[in-house]
Amino acid sequence: MKKDELISVFPTAVQIYKYENSIDKELNYIENLPYKEQVGNANFKSKDSYLTKHEQLKDLKIFFKECIDDYCNVISNSDQRLVITQLWANKNPPGAKHHEHIHPNSIVSGVFYLRQDKSLPPIQFSKSNQHSLKLDPKKYNTFNAEIFLLPCTAGELILFPSDLRHSVPVNVGKEERISLSFNTFSIDVLGNEDSLTHLDIRSLMHESN
Ligand SMILES: [Fe+2]
Repeated sequence: MKKDELISVFPTAVQIYKYENSIDKELNYIENLPYKEQVGNANFKSKDSYLTKHEQLKDLKIFFKECIDDYCNVISNSDQRLVITQLWANKNPPGAKHHEHIHPNSIVSGVFYLRQDKSLPPIQFSKSNQHSLKLDPKKYNTFNAEIFLLPCTAGELILFPSDLRHSVPVNVGKEERISLSFNTFSIDVLGNEDSLTHLDIRSLMHESN
């Protein structure tokens, strides 16, 4: 047997970015926002899900914008731009978990870690097309795995496609896990007329009248 190249077809891009400034002020501000409990999983979300409007978070907003632009440039290799649609804070107290989900009506999503370390649960990504028939792996690799745990630390941002399934396992740590999440969409014209993919939302505004 002459073994040749192994090709990874259609891999999913989860990009990690590091915020190099202190996040102490932002953590303190976010920790003290009003929160509401999510029914069923003991998690808390900030009552305000439009935190980009908060002056106290303007430095983080600039950082998120730079990272989103980098993802569009390098991963999507596109001149089209994404903007944040909603930005909210999450608190996962000890004993809480977050069910598996995707982020509808969004193209790329982000999670920024404010309080996160090895004692707190990592984000868990899941493959959407899990096989009903499969061989049992002796050891997992990127081809045979159906879940992927990504350990992160405070000050890291991850960007990933919004339809990538993810969850947070039970927080068995002693502290509250705190993060920011956001969704994005493009205000640029997408697709084109010839391929029947043209989407220019602004030009359609008059259609509803
Ligand atoms: Fe999520």
